[in-house]
Amino acid sequence: MPLFTLPKNSVVKPGRFHPAPGNATRIRRFEIYRYDPERGGNPRLDAFEVDLDRCGPMVLDAIIKIKNELDSTLAFRRSCREGVCGSCAMNIDGRNTLACTKAIEDCREVVKIYPLPHLPVIKDLVPDLTHFFAQYASIKPWIQTQTPPPADRERLQSPEERSKLDGLYECILCACCSTGCPSYWWNSERYLGPAVLLQAHRWIQDSRDESTGERLSDLEDPFKLYRCHTIMNCTETCPKSLNPAKAIAEIKKLLIERQR
Ligand code: SF4
Ligand code: SF4
Ligand code: FES
Repeated sequence: MPLFTLPKNSVVKPGRFHPAPGNATRIRRFEIYRYDPERGGNPRLDAFEVDLDRCGPMVLDAIIKIKNELDSTLAFRRSCREGVCGSCAMNIDGRNTLACTKAIEDCREVVKIYPLPHLPVIKDLVPDLTHFFAQYASIKPWIQTQTPPPADRERLQSPEERSKLDGLYECILCACCSTGCPSYWWNSERYLGPAVLLQAHRWIQDSRDESTGERLSDLEDPFKLYRCHTIMNCTETCPKSLNPAKAIAEIKKLLIERQR
């Protein structure tokens, strides 16, 4: 299991302790990163005891219970609670994953929770994804065409053409892979990172798109693409079991093939 570094400028100190109620029957300790840049000071790690007999099974259930019952100032993102929106991505037990699909029973005895690593922190478990989504926008994630559509139907795909998107379209842009990639940690200003490159490959592979050549030319850059050194953290950590490292390798292969 890969271990990741703490967020930038982290000098994390022990923080407040919130004990379980006296009648708790099955106590689990959660240690959660707290930081509010507007207040300043160092980040701290607050400890919360949760009674698992009065809590849902997932780490997100525990975080929601903590916010509802122990500390309403705790900040985190979540929406769907079923692994499809990507909002609740965070670092749990040293691994980037989705809090809503991570079972508490699969965690260590003390569950340590940090924001996604190597991003600026807006507050607590909420990272600033502005740059990540600007990079996503830069690959033009929509179908580009020059020819007019058929007059009587949509642009169709054969089952074989459609199947080329499998393993790519399922990406929920949670950023677990990019923020687990050492190359992205050190070069994120210019390296697009595994999530955005997997998305780029999704549009390159789409049989309806008519800008494949331009898309490949845009990626043929020593920093945008070639900072990937096949370390494989991205594939190891993806909570949707996708393979961004393979997508990156396939883009590189397409670039070699078109030179022949
Ligand atoms: S395979 Fe490439 S993108 Fe994935 S973690 Fe390694 S360097 Fe990053
Ligand atoms: S490839 Fe996986 S880890 Fe990366 S953004 Fe998509 S779903 Fe998240
Ligand atoms: S809340 Fe949507 S993926 Fe976890």
